[in-house]
Amino acid sequence: MFRQKVREAIRLAIAELKREGALPDFVIPEFSMAAPEDPAHGDYATNAALVIAKLTGGKPVEIARLIAGKLKASEIAAAAIAGPGFVNLTLADGSLTGALSAALRKPEQWWRSEAGKGKTVRVEYFQLNIAKRPHVGHLRSVVIGDAIKRMLLAFGYDAKSDTHVGDWGTQFGILLYAIKQLRFDVAGYMEDDPLARYEMLYSFYNQASQDSALVERLKSQGWGSDTTDWQNIHERGKEEFVKLERGDPENRKIWQRLVDISMKKLGESALRLGLAPFDMHRGESFYEPMMPEIVALALFKDVAKKTGDGAVVADLTADGLDEAVLIKSDGASTYLLRDLATLKYMKETLNFTANLYVVDVRQSLHFKQVFRVAKRLGFEGVEESTHIEFGFMTLPEGPMSTRKGTAIELEALLFEAATKVSAIIKEKNPDLENRDLVAKAIGLGAIKYFDLSHHRRSDIVFRWHEVLTFEGNTGPYLQYTHARFRSIVRKATNGTKGTKVPEGVALDPTEHRLLAAVLRLPEAIEDALKDYTPNTLANYLYTLAQLANEFYHSHPVLQEPDEAKRKLRLALVSGVVLTLAKGLDLLGIQAPDEM
Ligand code: ARG
Repeated sequence: MFRQKVREAIRLAIAELKREGALPDFVIPEFSMAAPEDPAHGDYATNAALVIAKLTGGKPVEIARLIAGKLKASEIAAAAIAGPGFVNLTLADGSLTGALSAALRKPEQWWRSEAGKGKTVRVEYFQLNIAKRPHVGHLRSVVIGDAIKRMLLAFGYDAKSDTHVGDWGTQFGILLYAIKQLRFDVAGYMEDDPLARYEMLYSFYNQASQDSALVERLKSQGWGSDTTDWQNIHERGKEEFVKLERGDPENRKIWQRLVDISMKKLGESALRLGLAPFDMHRGESFYEPMMPEIVALALFKDVAKKTGDGAVVADLTADGLDEAVLIKSDGASTYLLRDLATLKYMKETLNFTANLYVVDVRQSLHFKQVFRVAKRLGFEGVEESTHIEFGFMTLPEGPMSTRKGTAIELEALLFEAATKVSAIIKEKNPDLENRDLVAKAIGLGAIKYFDLSHHRRSDIVFRWHEVLTFEGNTGPYLQYTHARFRSIVRKATNGTKGTKVPEGVALDPTEHRLLAAVLRLPEAIEDALKDYTPNTLANYLYTLAQLANEFYHSHPVLQEPDEAKRKLRLALVSGVVLTLAKGLDLLGIQAPDEM
């Protein structure tokens, strides 16, 4: 990474200035290394002089001049002072072309880092709940989580993905009750789309106690029996869940069937979404046996108290975190307790250096409670645990979540995307082979990119025309740019493999900028991993694609008469292809050769 080398060179220059007495003695502070937007400002701009001036009371511009004068790295061709004391640095053309040549020789290596060697990171995402279909409400968690996992792997981390399937909790009691009340053969009736049926059954029963008209309809259609306790569905549901927790064989058997069907569906969806393979599907039920011990510990350590009605509650009101319930008054375990067990178990088994929960912002209080209670219990792994929260994705007409009844099935969304893209391609490129396959890749990529191009904390509104447009900061634009450059490489007789970077060719400003941007991929990954913001990588790729298209429109490649220039440009084009394809891949997005 050039950034690292340049940073090191600046540190060396400062150290030397201190040694010579040109600067007083101080501990060299952190300073920024930004990639300026204005090409006139070079490849990197640093605020080192400003930071030091603050520390020592010197004049920033003077310190900047001192640093610029001392820089010795061969990678740096020019250093200039700008504004109140920034140092703008320009990389040497020869260093850039040398790095390009090395990158082309190791297309699968040059962007990697060993930063994560020996470190295990658990990343939790795509936390489906069983007996429900995957819907668009799951999309952000999946897309963000998958990108984080891929970037971690690229940087040498042992990233372990986990779906933490929601397969436990009182809602399954309601469903169990409903299933047992059905008068016809459940298995047979549920066959065509069992999850859709279970979803429906649950929502009917969940609403029944407040809707007598619904009850009449359900009764007449055979969705209950003469003994169905329509008025007290929730109590009956809790009983069934407690029975399940105690190991009741009938309830276990029905529940297992729900798990099996749901896990099969999860696997199919993961495949459809092109996700990196998961390492673990540890459902919430897995932690059941570990819960009593945690409750006992919480009581023993006075972290939680038994209330009059038998519940076990940790009072976090002094911390502004409300009360955290571990056991409900009916004896059932809570979601929070399962998360406590999960944290403890995962730290013990993985010894992670980071534990990431990719979950929407609505659960922010929940995770604060989990971490606080875990801390008070003396659990290890709390400091390393982070709620990677993300905002809402809504449709212009409202939310996309089941809770409001407008859930769109994930499959339906992907299908619609592919259909729309297929129509666009038919118009733009009627002769394209494999149109349907390409349309799927572009449609899925467009959806993923739309999500990833926004900061994860932002709320976003999903509009088809914004998602699918081939212009601007979109997936199709990046994929199109990749395909455009790919076709140049294809037309060149020797292809990428034989591409040699000629030595000693001077770069013009457009080429210089584009090449510096190409080589910045590992820096973009590093930045994206700092606070787990894939949009950092996405926006880097967008900038790169813009520069690439600028180059494309002003610089002939195969038609360039000067041989050395032609070879250099071809190598640059290959670099663009590699970087765009790899960058998209790290976001979980395919880059078709043609579109
Ligand atoms: N299945 C949960 C839900 O639907 C999300 C799980 C989030 N992860 C966790 N460790 N609590 O709300």
